[in-house]
Amino acid sequence: MEKKETKHDALFKVIKGGPIQVSGNFVIRGVDKKILKTDKVVYLCRCGGSGRKPFCDGSHRRVGLKD
Ligand code: FES
Repeated sequence: MEKKETKHDALFKVIKGGPIQVSGNFVIRGVDKKILKTDKVVYLCRCGGSGRKPFCDGSHRRVGLKD
């Protein structure tokens, strides 16, 4: 029996001076292919300073992300 592909729809919103908000129906997989998140809303780091990448931990304030 063929496995059905699940449809995913997500909205990516860049927050000024902060992370990228992802909302909708999505799955995030890590480099080991394990599912990291299936929440309806997550915040992804775009400053490179997070201690829990790929997720934001608020370090963008310390890093001084402006745009
Ligand atoms: S954007 Fe928040 S920690 Fe990087």
